[in-house]
Amino acid sequence: MRDHNGIQRILEAPFVPLGKWPTPISAISRSNGVDVLVKRDDLSGHGRGGVKTRKIEHLVGHMLEKGYGSLVTPVGNVTNLVHDILPVLRRFDIAWDIVVADVPPLPLGERRRMFGGLGSNVRLIGPGHIEAAGALAGAYHRSRRAGRRPFFAPPSLAHPAAVIAAARGFLEMVGQVEAMGVPPLQTVFITAASGTAFAGFVLAENLLRQQGHRPIHVVGVQVYPGPARRWIHGLVRWTEHYLSVSDRVPSGRIDLRTTRIYREFGRYPTDLVELCTSVKDETGLKLDPVFGGKTWSIMESCLAQGRSNGSVLYWHCGYTPDWEVVPAAR
Ligand SMILES: Cc1ncc(COP(=O)(O)O)c(C=O)c1O
Repeated sequence: MRDHNGIQRILEAPFVPLGKWPTPISAISRSNGVDVLVKRDDLSGHGRGGVKTRKIEHLVGHMLEKGYGSLVTPVGNVTNLVHDILPVLRRFDIAWDIVVADVPPLPLGERRRMFGGLGSNVRLIGPGHIEAAGALAGAYHRSRRAGRRPFFAPPSLAHPAAVIAAARGFLEMVGQVEAMGVPPLQTVFITAASGTAFAGFVLAENLLRQQGHRPIHVVGVQVYPGPARRWIHGLVRWTEHYLSVSDRVPSGRIDLRTTRIYREFGRYPTDLVELCTSVKDETGLKLDPVFGGKTWSIMESCLAQGRSNGSVLYWHCGYTPDWEVVPAAR
């Protein structure tokens, strides 16, 4: 059965308005011949900026609609999420208990400098999964005892509400590109940390195809090792179920790239710093080597392998300033 309501359901999902939409699209040219469109979610206009604004809008909208009174979630040491979401939770009277795992590992003094001012409900723990699970379970029960209905969000808000937020962003972008009068959009490159934004893109792209739109190749770039492919697959299926969408994204279409530059979370090789500096000097775009620089690098390698017939778009997910406190991997 063809499902034409999926897009409608995405557009009707609850959210709290925080960002300035639509974010602009810039045409960027480099001296090495790279010519791409850039979706400027770094200019989302909330907090530190980034695709995260979309996710926060929809996740908080979902929590308010369902009557949740507190957020329990883990983050790593290199994060914009915790800084950007706390003012929103405060504004909507939602409590929080956020657990900061020591990944990538940093000296305690540095971590205190980064997170110390955020209050006692942002807790610093060690790097282990077992300690994180224990801390999160403790936070969940504390919240229940305090009479607040807790909502557990996986890392990077990897929940259907956030996938839907990204899907909505993808629909916004497709409309903008069509209005620009450039060659039809052929490929979109997106950073995949948890893969939440990427999952939203493949979902929206599939729904557009069902409505007769020409295919758009969505490439996700994995920025640290781990079972991302299986996780993203699950996230897509979970969101399809959540939206009651009957036309599922074929598994083979989930194109996630991995190369030698992916090390543990938050790490990066030094040549990526040089690439980010060169992109900044030539185009004014600020990329960090922990997330977006890796995606840019993969995009340039793909473009070097062959000419593209249509437009190529790099999705600027945001800039994470804390990357500078993490030493480069050798
Ligand atoms: C800088 C940056 N890059 C990429 C992403 C995409 O992350 P994810 O794959 O977890 O959706 C985010 C977070 O939303 C981000 O802040």
